[in-house]
Amino acid sequence: MSNMRTPFIAGNWKMNKTVREAEEFAEAFKKLYKDTEVKTAICAPYIHLATLKRIFAGTSIGVGAENAHYEDAGAYTGEVSVAMLEDLGIDYCIIGHSERRQYFAETDETVNKKLHRLFQGPIVPILCVGENLEQREAGREKEVVEKQVRADLAGLTAEQVKKLVIAYEPVWAIGTGKTASPAQANEMCGHIRQVIENVFGEEAADEVTIQYGGSMKPANATELMNMEEIDGGLIGGASLQPEDFMKVIDF
Ligand code: PGA
Repeated sequence: MSNMRTPFIAGNWKMNKTVREAEEFAEAFKKLYKDTEVKTAICAPYIHLATLKRIFAGTSIGVGAENAHYEDAGAYTGEVSVAMLEDLGIDYCIIGHSERRQYFAETDETVNKKLHRLFQGPIVPILCVGENLEQREAGREKEVVEKQVRADLAGLTAEQVKKLVIAYEPVWAIGTGKTASPAQANEMCGHIRQVIENVFGEEAADEVTIQYGGSMKPANATELMNMEEIDGGLIGGASLQPEDFMKVIDF
């Protein structure tokens, strides 16, 4: 059965760009952008979100944050809440990126709380999972990713999972120029879909969007996107220049 899922390409700027640079990107990208059946978004540092919303208003280009706190307000110096992002009309929020798990003490438990909070409102979560090199070399990658998926999604409903985006991002492929082969990426995305089916049922598995991320760029986007289980991409380095990012969307 061929799938009905809409391809979804999202940029992840990480900690890059000044406000001026973000504005320049957005103006240039808006000119290049052609509305196709591929869904598109840029996830950016908080200080750029209002700018991107303003410049992309009236287009179908979505805007996403890279993290959020699960409490609505309170004594959490340096944090930004889901409630604040909702107020700004933000469309997506990356949760559990491996860089946050590695450097900022993000755990499956905090990821799970953030997903539960996001599903109280309209922002679509982009949940990142993926194994590191040591785990892959030990042949444990499927077990590791399955454990993350089960823990991160604990207590969610099948209806919520249908709206979710999961990005499979092998840590060894992020920012390294080393892409997972299309077969490796497809195999793991299929495994994630099987886990979703086992826990949440067939409909949720059919509808959940599963992206690949890790050195995806114009040169390899076509072959990755042609794989049956890969519905999209989460694009770091190749989302920083409008021309590169547009080429990935045009895969
Ligand atoms: P990369 O980053 O495309 O630069 O490897 C992807 C990501 O971490 O989301």
